[in-house]
Amino acid sequence: MTIHPLIERLSLEEKASLVSGFAFWNTTAVESAGIPALVLSDGPHGVRRQEEGGDHLGINAARPSTAFPTASASASSWDRDLLATMGAALGVEARALGVDVLLGPGVNIKRSPLCGRNFEYFSEDPLLSGELGAAWVRGLRTHGVGASVKHYVANDQETDRMKISAEVDERTLREIYLKAFQRVIEKSSPATVMASYNAVNGEPVVSSHRLLTQILRDEWGYDGLVVSDWGAAASDVVAAVRAGLDLDMPGTGAGSAALIEAVRCGALDEAILDRAAARVAELAVTLVAGRAGTVTTFDAETHHALAREIAEQSAVLLKNDGVLPLSAEAEGAIAVIGEFARTPRFQGAGSSHIIPTRLDNALDAIRRRAGEREVIFEPGFTLDGRADSDLVDQAVATAQAASDVLVFLGLPPEDESEAFDRSSMDLPGDQLELLRRVAAVNERVTVILSNGGVVSVEPWRGTVAAILEIWLGGEAVGSATASLLFGDTNPSGKLAETIPLSLGDTPSFHNFPGDGRTVLYGERIYVGYRHYDSVGRDVAYPFGHGLSYTSFEYDDLRADVVGNALEVRVRVTNTGLRDGAEAVQFYSVPPASEEDRPAHELVAFEKVFVEAGGSHLITTRIPLGDLDYWSSRSRTWVRGTGIYTIQVAASSRDVRAQVGIELAGTECAPPLTLDSAMGEWFADAEGAVALQELMTQFATQGAGEWDEATLPLVMPMPLRTILPMAASKLPFPALGDLLLQRLAELRLAGREAPERGATLT
Ligand code: BGC
Repeated sequence: MTIHPLIERLSLEEKASLVSGFAFWNTTAVESAGIPALVLSDGPHGVRRQEEGGDHLGINAARPSTAFPTASASASSWDRDLLATMGAALGVEARALGVDVLLGPGVNIKRSPLCGRNFEYFSEDPLLSGELGAAWVRGLRTHGVGASVKHYVANDQETDRMKISAEVDERTLREIYLKAFQRVIEKSSPATVMASYNAVNGEPVVSSHRLLTQILRDEWGYDGLVVSDWGAAASDVVAAVRAGLDLDMPGTGAGSAALIEAVRCGALDEAILDRAAARVAELAVTLVAGRAGTVTTFDAETHHALAREIAEQSAVLLKNDGVLPLSAEAEGAIAVIGEFARTPRFQGAGSSHIIPTRLDNALDAIRRRAGEREVIFEPGFTLDGRADSDLVDQAVATAQAASDVLVFLGLPPEDESEAFDRSSMDLPGDQLELLRRVAAVNERVTVILSNGGVVSVEPWRGTVAAILEIWLGGEAVGSATASLLFGDTNPSGKLAETIPLSLGDTPSFHNFPGDGRTVLYGERIYVGYRHYDSVGRDVAYPFGHGLSYTSFEYDDLRADVVGNALEVRVRVTNTGLRDGAEAVQFYSVPPASEEDRPAHELVAFEKVFVEAGGSHLITTRIPLGDLDYWSSRSRTWVRGTGIYTIQVAASSRDVRAQVGIELAGTECAPPLTLDSAMGEWFADAEGAVALQELMTQFATQGAGEWDEATLPLVMPMPLRTILPMAASKLPFPALGDLLLQRLAELRLAGREAPERGATLT
């Protein structure tokens, strides 16, 4: 192996110091070789630049930066362009704040609504997560800033995240958990991948050669840098580097000492250290060179406006019985109830915590927008969770006298954070009691929800007229909310995760968050809608659901194979009176295959803006490979043969049209063995001949004369069991050998099946 020119003159100590970082947010500079230090910072929805007092839990101060909507919000936009624009704005801020690598995006899968970090993740679906994550990375890169797609892989809970082992079968890992990362890597080549704290199937990710080298590099062709989550490699940096880790963060000095010692005593091949050091050096040189001539400030006002636009595009109108949009010209007062209207919840806690440049609250924005209408505010509850009956009584009295009632509810800040999970999907009891009493006195109640992970709406959704989910919508969420409520912006967000009726319905319910040592991914590939739609379970609001103030119709759907992809076209018409955007979803229903498949899976999506009365022809391209499943038997991706039904849908439960298309697959029949069923042998042309010949010659008296009633009983039996009984004239081992040998001959000759009753030759 040739040594990279950047490191060829470096001492062992210098190389080790590159691979194990320098400080909390910096890599080591080797000035004599022209290798600068990289600055890394969290991410992912703002730039958390700490100049001193570094910490990875959101405790110490950081410089102000724009707090964009968190990932559970931005994912609900279903808008790649918007995510790319957000990435680009983050790139500008990262440059202005001296950051080379922004630690994001988070593409872990929302396996359970309880994961404390769901606000930092996009979706329960890997295609949506991967597409949006890739768009974000591409945007960031336009300013020469590197991304760190995280947390690779199966870090889908916070409970015991530093020691738990996710027990995941290979197919599930490939189709769900790895797939989001694979997509980001293939579509955006992120500068770094962050290896997570947890283990997968007993092996810590950070020291898994299979995950860090075989899959990531050898299979996917990733040539960027692999960095540890903060402290993930600290206990055995040598094993981690041997497995494929390039950068151990944060730097403490202990890591490089361990690496030097390991090379000296022969426990680590120096060539492996060289490779890692070269990747760090190369990335540092490239990214730091990109600093030259870039901005030193950013336009906080413009970015605030962008944060607002993203928040507007990300809110999901879950329900609307006609009370929205509000009108400034209508009669009567607007009651604004709930402390969150005045004190917005706009981000989650932990390493992604941002000091915003400014903060809008919905109450002020509603007052500004309501014109002459009276707006009366009642806090209704306190953020410290103490029940206060006076606050409730006042809110009820105000609601009773008002024409429109807006109730701002949400999760308390301490519920959603890195490092722990939620224990329930419910809103706090005092908020539910407030809502119960308010909804009892006014029929025009709109609930506005502030939460990162989904909350249970089932107990109360029937008692209110409208529900607007605004998520943790970033620093401009307050003004965005007023714009949506008054119809200045037409809602177009759709759920990137299902809202189930109850926690007990969630597929991971019995296996979350594990026993402290392991967590079994027992629901397998049936995460989110893949489960609910396959078993027909009712949900509160399905994956992909979101209303608008206008309506859309879909027609003229067609699908054609063009090259190596399906080209699918559909016309979307805005049949209402307002301009609006629609997230159009395409699902595939696969043909029957040798392995179970979900009822349907998202294979493409497009967000389109259509003027009132106008139409838009959408064309989307689905690479045929995106229809494949991971075959547990052949340990590779295969495509089933048969008719694929491509659905165009407004949500996973609102399929508007579908079209079938026949595709030749790559599935090959499993090889016939003595463990194959008699039915499988008879279904195979040559297997049937070989078996028939054998039976003719060696059948037990009376065997083989199966009638219609007995055939279903014997056909599923493995030959190893049925053959010794059915053909007892020759002892089984010899019988089996003979059969396999005859099959091999027939396969080789590829000749026509002999007549029934022919004897073995
Ligand atoms: C988190 C990462 C974060 C890192 C640095 C860790 O605790 O899991 O997401 O990027 O700290 O703050």
